[in-house]
Amino acid sequence: MVGWFSKSIVAMTIRMPKWFVRWVSRRYVAGPKLENAVQIMKRLSKEGACFTIDVLGEEILTIEEADFFLREYMNVISAISEHKLDANLSIKPTAFGLLIDEKIGMKKIEKLVRMASEHDLFVRLDMEDHRVTTATIQVVLDLHKIGLTNVGTVLQGRLFRTLDDINYLETELGPAADYRICKGIYLEPEEIAYTSYQDIVDSTNACIDRMLEAGSYCSIASHDIPVIEHAKAALEGFGMGPNIPDPRSNSGPQRDAKGPGYEFQMLLGVRGPLRRKLAKAGHRTRVYIPYGEKWYEYSIRRLQENPTLGTQYAKAFLMPWTNRP
Ligand code: FDA
Repeated sequence: MVGWFSKSIVAMTIRMPKWFVRWVSRRYVAGPKLENAVQIMKRLSKEGACFTIDVLGEEILTIEEADFFLREYMNVISAISEHKLDANLSIKPTAFGLLIDEKIGMKKIEKLVRMASEHDLFVRLDMEDHRVTTATIQVVLDLHKIGLTNVGTVLQGRLFRTLDDINYLETELGPAADYRICKGIYLEPEEIAYTSYQDIVDSTNACIDRMLEAGSYCSIASHDIPVIEHAKAALEGFGMGPNIPDPRSNSGPQRDAKGPGYEFQMLLGVRGPLRRKLAKAGHRTRVYIPYGEKWYEYSIRRLQENPTLGTQYAKAFLMPWTNRP
């Protein structure tokens, strides 16, 4: 249930002038240009963070628009090399045309993943709403089949199907399966997803356990203490932790620029003190860095998709001590 407070904040924000939305979103978005993202990564590197870079933008209307994202992500790969950044890529499959023409979209994603592979970089396919869950998983499987193993997907704890997806991917990819697990930002219908806070946390935690048990690489993307604490306890149960080579007998090969079988991930601008604490304890911590000219559309769309973010934004600004960047 989304409360009246969240809804009213959203309603207010989307009527505000653009400069105000920019002011609110600058905490969460690096800026319009790649150089803004590079500057932020250089600063946060000093806090022991590594990164995943997202070029803002999502579903496109014509397949030609996908070329913009392909070119921009190629620039991102060059910038990572040039500035020697500890970073990888996060892409949205629909920005490459997955919902317009699956074959052409796949070819464009393949081109990017191949270029990333030549630079020893990993590509994460962000998970969008339930219309593209199966197609996104299929892209990962098809790329692995042609030898591009530097790619993995995100799974969303709130979806009923996720444990089955992990089992399926375990069968298809074995220990090469490499996930980001999050609660899921899209408010999905109750026929296919958990809708209460506790059910979503329990399901997300069950997915973390299953991924670890399957020998997969597990990126825990949450700012929520019950999820993070559960993950830490589960890791300990598998004898995993900071600076310990992955001890699981069924684990995949250790990849460059990855943690020992797991890492924690957080969004730019959210719960910095918690992230720094995890990094200080030796956990690999990755910050998700969105940038791009489409920051306005991105900010508004995120709010409309999930109005509970309205409360979190308001809390972050009105009570900054609860959630510093
Ligand atoms: P929860 O929402 O309960 O947040 C816990 C606390 O963190 C809040 O009380 C608040 O203090 C703080 N907080 C969280 N989000 C905040 C925000 N935006 N602003 C201010 N404070 C905030 N989803 C998806 O569907 N597909 C995807 O590919 C991804 N990718 C992704 C990558 C990374 C690195 C992260 C961290 C998250 C995602 N997500 C995502 C989003 C994810 O599914 C989820 O919606 C958010 O992380 C919020 O859930 P939490 O687990 O953080 O808990």
